[in-house]
Amino acid sequence: MILTVTANPTIDKVYFVDELKLGGVHRPINTTATAGGKGINIARVATLLGEEAVALGFIGGSAGDFIREQIIKLNITEAFTNVSGESRTNFNISDSRGFSTELLESGPTVTKKEINALFEQFEAYADKCDIICAAGSLPKGADSSFYKELIRMAKAKGKRIIVDTSGATLLDIIDGAPFMIKPNRDELRDILGFEAKDDADIKKALLILYNKGIALPVITLGEDGAYAYIEDKFYRFLSPAVSVKNAVGSGDSFVAGVAVGISRGFTIPKAIALGMAAGTANTQFDETGYVSKELVDRFLKEIKYEIV
Ligand SMILES: Nc1ncnc2c1ncn2[C@@H]1O[C@H](COP(=O)(O)OP(=O)(O)OP(=O)(O)O)[C@@H](O)[C@H]1O
Ligand SMILES: [Mg+2]
Repeated sequence: MILTVTANPTIDKVYFVDELKLGGVHRPINTTATAGGKGINIARVATLLGEEAVALGFIGGSAGDFIREQIIKLNITEAFTNVSGESRTNFNISDSRGFSTELLESGPTVTKKEINALFEQFEAYADKCDIICAAGSLPKGADSSFYKELIRMAKAKGKRIIVDTSGATLLDIIDGAPFMIKPNRDELRDILGFEAKDDADIKKALLILYNKGIALPVITLGEDGAYAYIEDKFYRFLSPAVSVKNAVGSGDSFVAGVAVGISRGFTIPKAIALGMAAGTANTQFDETGYVSKELVDRFLKEIKYEIV
């Protein structure tokens, strides 16, 4: 079983319009609304791969009720913490000319009491799971000490925890030394303080992370694949060439694949290959953080890796 934590879940609402005009009135051709947030995306992809997943996180108001209903429909076990504020809705206006306009709400402010209530849920569920994934940005009221406490609790129980976040929060949680992190190209720049140009820079970053106590540092580079440091060796994983529909959520799908692999007892390189296959499969769907098992199985056969 995979335990996921989404500190700031969202309703991702997409309006499809012909031509968006500033100040205009629009009647959308189509509208979709799905539960989102990185941890929820991970739980959905893990479930699509046939694994049991539990979703923890802060939800509130009628938006929170919608998120809970969607999670139940996906056959994910929900153990959300109710908060007094209203969960956020992120609006995307997708225009037929290819423009994408976004309005991103910040979501509720969580209180100390609500944070402690989530920690209690975490304590209860961590014992039952094989691996934990905590991902995404933090709501107002929580700072990086939130992730650090999850890391501390996971370690105290001997559980592996993957934390996937960005910006200042990512830099902070590196010191907490989770089992795995997977910065992408932008996040890698934040860690190194400069743009990685070649293999040597990537190896340098992996070693920095490993020496800080991160057992499995991984760097994902979209179509350029991924790198990892595993048992004193640098590995490079190659992405199959695909024509992409929508790559948003490939990182979440990657984390889900790795977590599923680890919970099934795969070797680490095999688990990362499953992550690569899931990340690649996600690019073939319009939905964010969505795969089919058939496609993941097909891509898995095509993932190659080498020691570099
Ligand atoms: N264009 C692509 N072609 C093939 N594989 C891809 C592509 N984009 C992503 N992937 C797969 O997904 C993995 C993760 O992608 P990426 O490095 O873009 O994550 P990310 O930036 O964290 O994504 P996000 O934060 O939007 O979920 C890659 O290592 C690769 O396996
Ligand atoms: Mg990412």
